[in-house]
Amino acid sequence: MKLTSFEEKALRGKYGKGLGLAARITVNLGEFFNAPYTVGITSAHISGVSLKTGGKALERVLDIIAEGNNTTRVPAFLNPAGFDLRRYESMGVPEDFQRRQQEIIEKFVSLGVLPTLTCTPYLNGLVPKKGDILAWAESSAVTFANSYIGARTNRESGISALAAALTGRTPYYGLLIRENRRPDLIVRTEEELTVEGDRLYMLGLLVGKRRPTSIPYMTGIEPKNVTEYKGLGAGMAASGNISLYHVEGETPEAGWAKRTIDEGREAVPSLTITRDMMEELFERNRPKTLPSLMAVGCPHASVEEIIEIDRSLKGEVKDTDFWIFTSRQTEILAARMGLVGSLKRKGVEIFADTCMVVMPTEQLDYDLIATNSSKALHYLPRMGNVPTVFMPLDEMIKVAREGAI
Ligand code: F3S
Repeated sequence: MKLTSFEEKALRGKYGKGLGLAARITVNLGEFFNAPYTVGITSAHISGVSLKTGGKALERVLDIIAEGNNTTRVPAFLNPAGFDLRRYESMGVPEDFQRRQQEIIEKFVSLGVLPTLTCTPYLNGLVPKKGDILAWAESSAVTFANSYIGARTNRESGISALAAALTGRTPYYGLLIRENRRPDLIVRTEEELTVEGDRLYMLGLLVGKRRPTSIPYMTGIEPKNVTEYKGLGAGMAASGNISLYHVEGETPEAGWAKRTIDEGREAVPSLTITRDMMEELFERNRPKTLPSLMAVGCPHASVEEIIEIDRSLKGEVKDTDFWIFTSRQTEILAARMGLVGSLKRKGVEIFADTCMVVMPTEQLDYDLIATNSSKALHYLPRMGNVPTVFMPLDEMIKVAREGAI
């Protein structure tokens, strides 16, 4: 792989051990994927920040990378951590977990990384533009940036995203190359099947499960807003390895994607989502008893979602807990709008900086969690070892209000 003179010097240790390791990670990745060279990035998004997901390996790598006064060369931001930095006492987070998590965040900050602690930086002003090259690691944000914005990023690991933030470069391969962004699957919905709102997230989960490595060209769906795109893509990225999808007539590369299908030499295979498939998926994940926790905000809730919950929940939550996860910036905005106070009076808690998947949920006393996120539905039983069911937001509000399913 052709290297810049900066990369060569970094590899030889001219800038210290930390930057040497960052350059080594970038070069190894590029050589593995046969990248011809590296390219400059405009931002990096680092995942695996929670002690629960990053663990000792993250602590060790950060110790090495922090050697030599290195700082990031492009804006770099962090995914959620293991607890709300302002409310960890009331969350029942063990003391050792709390201390080590704070140390991890401080190390990132000493490297110049912004402690945004959110998986939705694009909802908080950190928005790339179409065509920007990124090194983002959070899978839902990767899918959003590629699909909804038309920026270009591979699905980095937390460590390779950090390395890219420090060198300002990433190997040129995969989804950075236009040719590799062609759809290789047409997704159709059965005639007269309409999937809308947060039910679209389950459709995303289904597509990811059935065609985990595809680039789908989706027809028959019309996500209405940013919130629905983030949930749809998160589902595909969770059950599969999907980092890019196109929606007919909607997403920025959809016109080009359609032409590649129409003009391609080989027919693109298709997948039809049927009513039976969707019903079977909903049925399998439907609650049979009252969940002890309702959790919204995976990916982190937008302010629009918080407004919707406050407006539709008329009265107090009964016999269950109701939590919303969001970014600190959105939480501050929601507080200024009076939503945090209003929801608290109804029994709904808003947490920032963390989420139901990366916090130590398994150590809390919940025997069944309901979520309207297909990503949380996928990961919570695996990472939190907590039984989890899917409940669209409108049902969740009704159940929370009545204290019964
Ligand atoms: Fe975000 Fe946590 Fe879900 S990081 S995408 S809220 S698993």
